[in-house]
Formats: sequence, structure tokens, C-alpha cells
Amino acid sequence: MINVVFVCLGNICRSPTAEGVFRGLVHDAGLDQDIHIDSAGTHAYHVGSPPDARAQAEAKRRGNDISHLRGRQACTADFQKFDYVLAMDGQNHQNLLKICPPEHLEKLYMFLDFAPALGIRDVPDPYYEGGFDGVYDMIEDAAKGLLADIQKKHL
Ligand code: 4NP
Repeated sequence: MINVVFVCLGNICRSPTAEGVFRGLVHDAGLDQDIHIDSAGTHAYHVGSPPDARAQAEAKRRGNDISHLRGRQACTADFQKFDYVLAMDGQNHQNLLKICPPEHLEKLYMFLDFAPALGIRDVPDPYYEGGFDGVYDMIEDAAKGLLADIQKKHL
């Protein structure tokens, strides 16, 4: 089993979107039993909350239901439990570095590094600025790259 967790700031916009998108790809590839998927936020503002209504609406528009997800905060134990800890931007990468045990540093990734053609490393934070449509597209690109990486290296 390969364990994957997507991490943003609030765990209500970008990372639950990534969780839903990636779960769809994994399901379509027939790999539900091989890849475990979760998401978390580096801050605790929205612990226990469902995804932001705008993130839910964008996912629904693309045929993906993420309404059941609930926010939780990332923690040091996540680096024991997960093989891939995927930071949505540099700020969250920094936050994760502070709680990552040194022996697990190789598990910490910038999510968009799995979509190098995009030419950027940060998924823009849509909470204040909007842009959920474009964020969803970026997340789809990187999720495809991530799945290809896992299939090549582990499955
Ligand atoms: P997310 O977006 O990190 O993609 O879930 C945000 C959600 C909430 C806040 C910031 C970003 N906030 O400041 O409450």
C-alpha cells in the first residue's frame, strides 16, 4: 500500500480538491486497494469543516463529490504514516519542514513538481482570490504526474 497526503493551509480548498481528483484517477486506474489517500492543513483554522462551498461546487461541476471530507491538521506522525507528503505551495512546504523528522525529509514534495510543464511550483491560494477553475486544472495535471510516478516506482 502506498500512502499519499495532500497538504495546504486550511484543508478546505486546494488539498481536499487534490484528494478528490487523485481518488478519481486512482479509482479509474483500478488501484483503490493499492493507494491510500488523505489531505490535511498546516493550520487548524478549519479543523472539522467541510470543503469551502466554492471548492465543492467546482469539484461537482467536474463530476467529483468532495462534500464528505472534513478538515484536519497535519502532524509529525503523518511523516511516519505517509510515503508522499505533497505541499501545495512554498509556505506550506516551510510549515511542513518544521514538523518533519529529518529521517523522513525525502517524503516531502512540492505537488506541482509532478506537473513540470506548468512552470510554477505553487498552487495559488484561491480562498481570497478565487480562481477555483484554474486551480482545479493545475491539480489535475499534477495528480496525473503523481500517479504515473507512483506506478513507475512502486506498482
Ligand atoms: P486552502 O485555502 O489552504 O487551499 O484550504 C485556505 C483556506 C482558508 C484560509 C486560507 C487558505 N484561511 O485563511 O482561513
